[in-house]
Amino acid sequence: MTTAALRRGGSIFNLSDYLAKRNTLIDDALTRITDEIDDASGRLKEAVRYSVFAGGKRIRPILAISATEAVGGNVDDAVTAGAAIECIHTYSLIHDDLPAMDDDDFRRGVPTSHRVFGEATAILAGDCLLTNAFSVLSDASRFSADGSRLLKVIHEIAEASGDKGMVGGQETDLESEGGEIDLPSLEFIHIRKTGALIVASVRAGAILGGGTEPQVRALTDYAKHLGLAFQITDDILDVIGTRQKMGKETGKDHVRGKATYPALLGLTQSKERAQELVDRALASLSDFGDDARPLRAIARFVIERQA
Ligand code: IPE
Ligand code: IPE
Ligand code: MG
Ligand code: MG
Ligand code: MG
Repeated sequence: MTTAALRRGGSIFNLSDYLAKRNTLIDDALTRITDEIDDASGRLKEAVRYSVFAGGKRIRPILAISATEAVGGNVDDAVTAGAAIECIHTYSLIHDDLPAMDDDDFRRGVPTSHRVFGEATAILAGDCLLTNAFSVLSDASRFSADGSRLLKVIHEIAEASGDKGMVGGQETDLESEGGEIDLPSLEFIHIRKTGALIVASVRAGAILGGGTEPQVRALTDYAKHLGLAFQITDDILDVIGTRQKMGKETGKDHVRGKATYPALLGLTQSKERAQELVDRALASLSDFGDDARPLRAIARFVIERQA
């Protein structure tokens, strides 16, 4: 893109710089949110902060911010909502790693929460992150957007997190272990367990940023395709990625008989499917100009990533 952009007289977009700047805003918001945790011994707070600051990619809050930028909104609300979504996501990872679920010992480059703090505190750290995320989201004093917009966003994030979204997808994921599965059922799992929160992140940014209905619709279309591509890539990286780069165990999906794209379609077709979805995500942004450059770069990053 660099030389082409220069030839067209456009400026160069540097995703790493962009991510670094937004990550500072997100980490500041997460610091504020987790500093407010006030348990008697401080152990819950320690467990929460251990997982939140272990080094996630922050793709969901980044997407909330980029979506707000695409519609020309003020990023402060997207940072706060994105940080709350990152709390929900981190809770989902802590619980996903528990012995009763995927039983993993390594996450974000460090031992999993239950390996360090024990299962009970890991469960409660997840509970705390989920609950506090909605406390933050429903505290109108933290947002400049009007109450009805905020309420709509809170409702959508709740729907994306529960039975119709992440929790529902996780349940079907576990029920499908070791069994036969067809492509529509696999897509159903992925759209729910991972896609829903990614769609909610983009929509939160777009709605809080004051996007018009056609803009929010186009961004939703972008996010739906990107969300599925994201989980397909996660499945692919479980096969071809390394523990060191991923910061989590690889090769586990096959061992546990997980329903994944590579298991069903093979690696080549899975990569083709992810590429096709990213192309469709990019096509959804056709009416946007340079303000959507971050969203375009993130879409490409989602399938090119090695972590
Ligand atoms: C991992 O999510 C779990 C999935 C939903 C695929 P991420 O790949 O976003 O994990 P972090 O937040 O960077 O650790
Ligand atoms: C998890 O999917 C999705 C969540 C909602 C946490 P995976 O089980 O594939 O995620 P990883 O590979 O452990 O990060
Ligand atoms: Mg899982
Ligand atoms: Mg897992
Ligand atoms: Mg995985």
